Amino acid sequence: MPDTRQEHWDRIFATKAEDAVSWFQATPETSLRLIHACNLPREACILDVGAGASRLPDALLEEGFTNIAVLDISATALARTRARLGEKAHSVRFITADIVAWRPDFAVDLWHDRAVLHFLTEPQERAAYADALRRAVRAGGFALISGFAPSGPERCSGLPVFRADQDMIASLLGADFELLDAFEEDHHTPSEVRQRFVFTRFQRRANSALGHQSSERTP
Ligand SMILES: C[S@@+](CC[C@H](N)C(=O)[O-])C[C@H]1O[C@@H](n2cnc3c(N)ncnc32)[C@H](O)[C@@H]1O
Repeated sequence: MPDTRQEHWDRIFATKAEDAVSWFQATPETSLRLIHACNLPREACILDVGAGASRLPDALLEEGFTNIAVLDISATALARTRARLGEKAHSVRFITADIVAWRPDFAVDLWHDRAVLHFLTEPQERAAYADALRRAVRAGGFALISGFAPSGPERCSGLPVFRADQDMIASLLGADFELLDAFEEDHHTPSEVRQRFVFTRFQRRANSALGHQSSERTP
């Protein structure tokens, strides 16, 4: 029987070294640059969705952010982050959940996703993701979403991916979210393969209501 999604990711994080996975970054520079562009106060709630064992929380803690949450389907990935952070892990909220089924119980000022939405190959999964995002991100808050661009690889971690451009991500989030930045960039994997990513930064309009439906445009 094939792995469930959770088993797949637990196995990856249990068997591969941190810098042996294709998405590894010693410093998540582009994400940090986009986060800085949002000019958030240090107590703002930043949620990293599908955080894996990323070093983003380390960098945010270093910058003085005090309200960081990391969510992942893999408890093994989050255990790695917890171990790496040591004492500092006490000030981070760890959430083991499938983003497709997750119902947020706190408000988020910034939703960060690097290479997670792109694993949701079914439209109904992406609709559930957008629903969770809209429930979580407060009016005036931000959503930073990145993943493989249309010219990027067809698979990641052995799984098929949904490659999207900025318009496809914008139509998934719906009219309540204004697109502030969008660009493509190459990620160089540890084995020196180039992968084309799209990066987007959205802001939720100040007058938007919770729970609006997306109007995803299919490619
Ligand atoms: C390619 S890795 C990226 C990890 C991290 N964002 C980074 O930039 O290093 C994808 C991550 O998404 C997580 N993931 C995949 N599907 C998920 C889902 N449905 N819900 C929550 N996390 C998921 C995986 O466990 C993995 O940690």
